[in-house]
Amino acid sequence: MRFVLPKGRLLQGSLEVLRRAGIELRPPAERRLIERVGNYEVLLARAFDVPVYVEYGIDVGISGSDVVEERGSDVLIPLELPFGKCRLSLAMPAGKVVGPEEMDGYRIATKYPKITRRFFESLNVEVDVLKLHGSIELAPKIGIADAIVDIVETGNTLRANGLVEVEKIMDVSALLLVNRIAQKTKFEEINELVFAIKEVIRNGF
Ligand code: PRP
Repeated sequence: MRFVLPKGRLLQGSLEVLRRAGIELRPPAERRLIERVGNYEVLLARAFDVPVYVEYGIDVGISGSDVVEERGSDVLIPLELPFGKCRLSLAMPAGKVVGPEEMDGYRIATKYPKITRRFFESLNVEVDVLKLHGSIELAPKIGIADAIVDIVETGNTLRANGLVEVEKIMDVSALLLVNRIAQKTKFEEINELVFAIKEVIRNGF
């Protein structure tokens, strides 16, 4: 079986939940991106690419629901995992706060252009979406955007940059992803994995 795991904040939780489910994976050493461990192969990818790898042929992946939603990937999601909990929110500089329905003509910086457009379209508000790849909080701070849509976990990054949360757009959690074809061709193995992870969760992961 081939697994694709995200670099970054979900990696430790991903390895731990799989380890407790009886699958001991070693992340690739140093700058290698693939590691073979017994019958398993582990790929490390950028968080935003994990659902894409699963859609196009890697058997199993772990990814945030924010990324799956943004990518709109055609994958199976047998389980929500009990880590990586945070939210995707609209935020803006304290002192300039208005509601999203009053943001006509605003420029919104985000790593999530599709979710952001959909959110404002649902309110019938026209905004200009500025796609950035990270450190989103910088954009309103230096005046190249009016607001941001980004992940909030503790809220520390917002506070440190003088931003306040205006509205939650979605709750986010890590998800187990399964390739549609693998679900058929590796039915037994995948069902065993899903069952084992369910047990881990039931026992209080
Ligand atoms: C994420 C997110 C926020 C921060 C939120 O960034 O984009 O910047 O974490 O967490 P907090 O509410 O606990 O402060 P990440 O570290 O993933 O890096 P990024 O700047 O590349 O998005």
